[in-house]
Amino acid sequence: MKEAGQASGVGIKPLIRVLQGQHEEIPPVWMMRQAGRYLPEYRQVREKAGGFLDLCFNPELAAEVTLQPIRRFGFDAAILFSDILILPLALGRKVEFLVGEGPKLEPMTDAAALKNMRDQPDGNVLAPIYETVRRVKSALDEKTALIGFCGAPWTVATYMVAGEATPDQAPARLFAYRDPENFARLIDRLVRGSIEYLVSQLKAGADCVQIFDTWAGVLPPEQFDRWCIEPTQKIVAGVRAQVPGAKIIGFPRGAGAMALPYAEITGVDGLGLDWMFPRSLARDILQPHVAVQGNVDPLALLAGGAALDREVDDVMTLADGPLIFNLGHGILPATPIEHVERMLKRVRGA
Ligand code: CP3
Repeated sequence: MKEAGQASGVGIKPLIRVLQGQHEEIPPVWMMRQAGRYLPEYRQVREKAGGFLDLCFNPELAAEVTLQPIRRFGFDAAILFSDILILPLALGRKVEFLVGEGPKLEPMTDAAALKNMRDQPDGNVLAPIYETVRRVKSALDEKTALIGFCGAPWTVATYMVAGEATPDQAPARLFAYRDPENFARLIDRLVRGSIEYLVSQLKAGADCVQIFDTWAGVLPPEQFDRWCIEPTQKIVAGVRAQVPGAKIIGFPRGAGAMALPYAEITGVDGLGLDWMFPRSLARDILQPHVAVQGNVDPLALLAGGAALDREVDDVMTLADGPLIFNLGHGILPATPIEHVERMLKRVRGA
């Protein structure tokens, strides 16, 4: 298949061309959580691996599940199979994943907990993750990009403080209001660890990286500046100081009106939009500054049919500018595979 924009970027992967601000006739497509429980082949490997963390730390199996959605759907990008909570683990915190319950960490109720945390991530813990990157890289063709990632400091901190998923991340918000100095120390340590983690993924072969700030949307504007924008800006600058020109996507879920300042101040190349973000605003206000990624409602993908078609067509109104087609958050485990196929067919027109 011939790709649009080839003349201006021979050999460059479509997803990377979009992050350079170019427009593709047919936008590159991938899905957040594309390796996961909605795929029978994932469930099979997951069972063989034992626990979820065993899978993350097994380069052979982690590479296999990273590649599964590429083989099945021919997505334009693979995303490293791992988790945002691997970094706290490498910083010496206890992290577990309980079946049906999600992550469980040792909560950080006060500043004393900072003492039980390493200053820099343990390279031995992270080594298998980089090995997965190398394996996936060597298995991908020249058109398919490999995306590395980390959690944004704010989102990672919300799980570290509460010790589990909560509806509104009240424990971390309270910690930040009551003891901003020590909360800043936690965030700074996550900033430094994330820079090292992302740089190592890029050096191992990732073509770009995404910073997941799933819980950005619970912060009021002033707190959003301090705990979401500022740390992300530091990570972007820190990564580019070691990997000049590194391509970076930010996903500040729920940013709403803060999306433009986030994009402008952090300097990300791509802005991941959640499904609530109005597409007309994305076109008029964001795309002149930054490539956008998104933003099909994962529930419309689960529902399928006419609701899905409408959602796909509406996202495609952004395809005249720099667009990476994606969901507005991760695919839900109950999503039928045929709905993913239907979505892809509609985007690619084939
Ligand atoms: O395919 C991919 O997108 C790559 C792999 C990936 C996972 N987690 C695998 C995973 C990525 C990029 C993540 C990021 C992640 N992890 C985020 C940010 C994005 C988001 O979805 O909001 C967050 C907040 C986490 C923390 C986390 N990991 C939670 C809250 C849970 C439990 C909820 C759930 O979906 O089960 C996880 C577990 C997890 N991470 C699974 C997968 C495939 C499911 C575990 C399993 O297979 O049993």
